[in-house]
Amino acid sequence: MQIDKKILVVGATGFVGPALVEEFSNAGYSVICGVRNLASAARQLSFPNVEFMKVNLNEDLDPDVWLERLEEHEVDGVVNNVGIANSFGGQSLENVNVLAPLALFKAVQHYCQDNRSFRGKPHDIPVIQISTTGANWPDCDKYEYPRTKKQIDEVLVQTDGLRFIIVRPNIIYEPGRGHLLLEEIARLSIIAYIGGSDIQPIHCRELAIGIVRLMKNPSVANRSILQAVGPEVMTWEKVFKSVCNALGRKHCIFMRFPLLIGQLFTSISQKLPDNSLGNLGVLAKMDDQTIEMMTKGSTGDNSEWLKKTQLEPITLFNSYKKFGKSRDTYNKYIQDIREKITDYS
Ligand SMILES: NC(=O)c1ccc[n+]([C@@H]2O[C@H](COP(=O)([O-])OP(=O)(O)OC[C@H]3O[C@@H](n4cnc5c(N)ncnc54)[C@H](OP(=O)(O)O)[C@@H]3O)[C@@H](O)[C@H]2O)c1
Repeated sequence: MQIDKKILVVGATGFVGPALVEEFSNAGYSVICGVRNLASAARQLSFPNVEFMKVNLNEDLDPDVWLERLEEHEVDGVVNNVGIANSFGGQSLENVNVLAPLALFKAVQHYCQDNRSFRGKPHDIPVIQISTTGANWPDCDKYEYPRTKKQIDEVLVQTDGLRFIIVRPNIIYEPGRGHLLLEEIARLSIIAYIGGSDIQPIHCRELAIGIVRLMKNPSVANRSILQAVGPEVMTWEKVFKSVCNALGRKHCIFMRFPLLIGQLFTSISQKLPDNSLGNLGVLAKMDDQTIEMMTKGSTGDNSEWLKKTQLEPITLFNSYKKFGKSRDTYNKYIQDIREKITDYS
């Protein structure tokens, strides 16, 4: 059923962006995709009721630029999904993670105020900001990525008169896509990992479907921070073993390496051509801080996330088990998650 509302998804490409756009489109919303490259976005995002808008958060630091965009498209809700973990490509984390989102949020505030003054609609639009559980680390200021994410979260919390929900995901995964191709890693005879800390990976669809549900009913979590973490506390070793078991791969050797070796691997991987990384099950280039953050671990309490989204959590083992059976089995599993409403009260 078509919903008469337009959602602006800023950062509609990459890994999580397309899942958000697909889930909003599936749910009947019109979606304005804020992207840097219009042609490649159009190829990636061929879903119904989708339009494109060129944005660049390294440069769009003026609230007026965003206000004009919100007015032109009569936006009813905003998701800021953009986040960069390092400055590859000459980007500034300060601009992309903090100053441009700040300009966007100021524009939303003005947009709502102006609409209210002129008795126009919409006048109370919600903003959903995708953050990270790294912002919960007591020493997050040591790392530029979670520090900048926390900084913009704090600005939102201090902004009066804005409806917002901050969602802090843990490591995000999805069979067949994403930065970590766990099914490719499970094919390797030797699986190397670093660190023994606990993480709580969340399935990308659980995140995207949950965000659509929050946008449908934002008052359930207005002005709150939700920890979007998966249902199981796992080490990286357990993650890899779970995927191997789910896919019936039983002969792997697991080897734990010190962080220094991981950092050596990342400095070599930065010199490799992008397309050769897929053979190692990794798609995004990493720097020393990114690999250190991945081994630091972080866990959280997902009870509010599940309560507000009424989602059935997706387990890593189940999703790879279904994925290993067939595409149809996996798609049916995800469709069931989309349709099921779980009341936790
Ligand atoms: N993946 C995870 O495990 C994880 C965990 C916790 C939190 N998060 C957060 O989740 C969000 C999505 O993550 P992801 O893994 O999907 O990241 P991703 O694949 O790197 O995608 C990031 C998105 O940001 C866009 N972007 C980057 N620089 C931009 C700029 N200057 N102007 C406009 N758009 C720009 C990218 O566009 P292009 O396609 O043009 O590059 C892409 O759409 C981020 O906020 C991230 O911090 C991710």
